[in-house]
Amino acid sequence: MILVTGATGNVGAPTVRKLLERGADVRVFVRDKGRLGEVAEKVDVVVGDFADKTALRKAMRGIKRLYLHALGDENDEIAAALAAARDEGVAHVVHLSSLSASMPGPAAAKWFLGRESLVADAGFQWTMLRPGFFMSNVMRWLPAIREQGVVRWIPGRFAPVDTRDVGAVAAAALTEPGHEGKVYDLTGPDVMDSKMQVEIISDVLGRPVGFEEISPDDVINGLRATGAPEARIEFARAVAESMASDQWPVVTNTVEELTGQRPCTFRQWCIDHVADFK
Ligand SMILES: NC(=O)c1ccc[n+]([C@@H]2O[C@H](COP(=O)([O-])OP(=O)(O)OC[C@H]3O[C@@H](n4cnc5c(N)ncnc54)[C@H](OP(=O)(O)O)[C@@H]3O)[C@@H](O)[C@H]2O)c1
Repeated sequence: MILVTGATGNVGAPTVRKLLERGADVRVFVRDKGRLGEVAEKVDVVVGDFADKTALRKAMRGIKRLYLHALGDENDEIAAALAAARDEGVAHVVHLSSLSASMPGPAAAKWFLGRESLVADAGFQWTMLRPGFFMSNVMRWLPAIREQGVVRWIPGRFAPVDTRDVGAVAAAALTEPGHEGKVYDLTGPDVMDSKMQVEIISDVLGRPVGFEEISPDDVINGLRATGAPEARIEFARAVAESMASDQWPVVTNTVEELTGQRPCTFRQWCIDHVADFK
C-alpha cells in the first residue's frame, strides 16, 4: 500500500491518478474526503490533518511507500509525518521538493535543502523530486486576466512544468525499483518568461491579454499588503530575486527518461485548461 499526502493538491492529485493507472493500492491522507470526487471510491481514505499525530499514525499503518509534500513555510508538518512514518515502519519516502534545491542561494539552502535533509536523515530510503515552477502557477493571474485583461509580473526565464508530469514521475518512483537515493530535477520542455506565457494564454483564449513588468519589490509589497507572515515574504523575496537574476532557465530530460512520455508544453497545458480561464 502507498500513501499519498496532499492528494487533492497540484501534484498529489495526478500522482494518485497515475498510481491507479499502474494498478497500485493507494491510500490518501486528506482533510476533506469530499474534495477527492470520484477518486474517493478507488482509494483507501484516512481523514486527518498534519497537526493530528494520531491521524498520521493511522494513515501510515501498513504503508511501505510514502509520497510526502510540504506545507507552508515551517517544517513541523514534515517532521510530524516522518515521525509517524518511522513509528509505523514505512520503508521509502518520495519527497516533493523544488528545483530551488539545485540552485545556489538562500531560497534553496534555507527551505528546500533543509526539508530534504529531514527526509534523508530520518533513516528511510528516499527519492527527491525537484520540479521547477508549475505551469498551474499562472492560475494566480486569473482575476487579473478576467477583470483587467493585463498581467503584471516579474521578469526572468524558466521552463515551467506540468504537475501531471511531476505526478507521473512520482508514481514511477513509488512503484518501480531503482529510484532509491535519486534526486530528480524536473522541468517542462521549453524555456520562457512570464511575458511569453501571457502571449500563449492570449493566443489560446483568442483575446488580447497584456503584460506589464514589475519588480520583485512590487511583488513583496503586494504580499505584505495581504498580511502574509514574514517567513512567507522572505521566501517569496528569495524566489523572486533568483528569478530576476536569471537562475532558472534549466531544461532537463528527466520526465521523458522516467515516464517514456514527452513532457507537456505550456501551450498544450493552456489548451487543456482553457475552460478555467473563461
Ligand atoms: N508552485 C510551484 O511552482 C512549485 C514548484 C516546485 C515545488 N513546489 C512545492 O510544492 C509543494 C506544494 O505541493 P502542491 O502544489 O502539490 O500542493 P497544493 O496544491 O498547494 O495543495 C496542498 C495540499 O496539502 C493539503 N493540506 C494543506 N494543509 C494540510 C494540513 N494541515 N493537513 C493535511 N493536509 C493538508 C491540501 O489539502 P486540502 O484539500 O485539505 O486543502 C492539499 O491537498 C510546496 O512544498 C511547494 O514549495 C511548488
